[in-house]
Amino acid sequence: MNKFSGKVAIVTGGASGIGYAIVNRLLNQGIKVAVADLNEDRLKELEEEHKGNLIGVVTNVTKEKDIEALVQKTVDTFGGLDYGFNVAGASRSALITDQSEEDWDFTVDLCLKGVFLSVKHQARYMKEHGGGAIVNVASLNAHVPMFYGAAYSSAKAGVEMLTKNAALELAQHNIRVNALLPGLVSTPLTKGLTDHEGINEAYKERIPMRRPADPDEMAGPAMFLVSDDASYVNGTGLVVDGAWEVSGYPDLSKFM
Ligand SMILES: NC(=O)c1ccc[n+]([C@@H]2O[C@H](COP(=O)([O-])OP(=O)(O)OC[C@H]3O[C@@H](n4cnc5c(N)ncnc54)[C@H](O)[C@@H]3O)[C@@H](O)[C@H]2O)c1
Repeated sequence: MNKFSGKVAIVTGGASGIGYAIVNRLLNQGIKVAVADLNEDRLKELEEEHKGNLIGVVTNVTKEKDIEALVQKTVDTFGGLDYGFNVAGASRSALITDQSEEDWDFTVDLCLKGVFLSVKHQARYMKEHGGGAIVNVASLNAHVPMFYGAAYSSAKAGVEMLTKNAALELAQHNIRVNALLPGLVSTPLTKGLTDHEGINEAYKERIPMRRPADPDEMAGPAMFLVSDDASYVNGTGLVVDGAWEVSGYPDLSKFM
């Protein structure tokens, strides 16, 4: 038995990439997991693979009814809810002058409203049942803009501020809320970028560790944030980016 065993978690966007890496960590620690995602086929496979320890709940995080039903189903199945990992996200990218209203709304709804609805309903349950811990996945783009990424970067900056507001309001209910800000992670979301030789090299040039992260390198920091080791960590954003954020200037060491 470890300190996590018997706990219950929700992971939105848990069928792929970073969310899936978190799901695996949780299962390895004896935590029961509700995976919320749009990918019904993958959810069925996961449920079959981890019978009794995992449920897949088809959820669109931008729909409040879906999130309410997700929390209810999690509690009905596993008897509680201790942790929320709000990971689901994606982007429709364009220059600001080209971006359609529809694509802006898609991106901001998914990345920001989806996290708001998730925190709202996870915390509603937790505050009546002794507390809990929530991790919202933002992005390095919460701090650093990128071409074609105005909607995404703005939404991710919003996730970081939403996290601070949530920590402020929920600390009195024994709920901690923190954000994780990944740099570049090798997942289906970024495959189009990392498969492109020129773009991949441009990224590596900027990232002092000269490589993208493996999704599992996000799962450890996410687990830390909900763990008792982080019992006084609240309302903060943990940047996990291989020192990318601090590499703003060109690498002058090459010239010295
Ligand atoms: N990969 C990176 O480099 C990177 C960097 C910074 C931040 N992030 C963030 O991490 C999170 C996960 O990204 P990833 O790279 O693992 O992506 P991914 O595409 O591998 O996984 C995202 C998952 O979210 C699900 N999803 C999409 N829309 C949904 C919706 N409306 N409701 C429920 N589920 C939905 C998808 O089906 C998919 O399973 C995202 O919020 C992303 O913005 C990723």
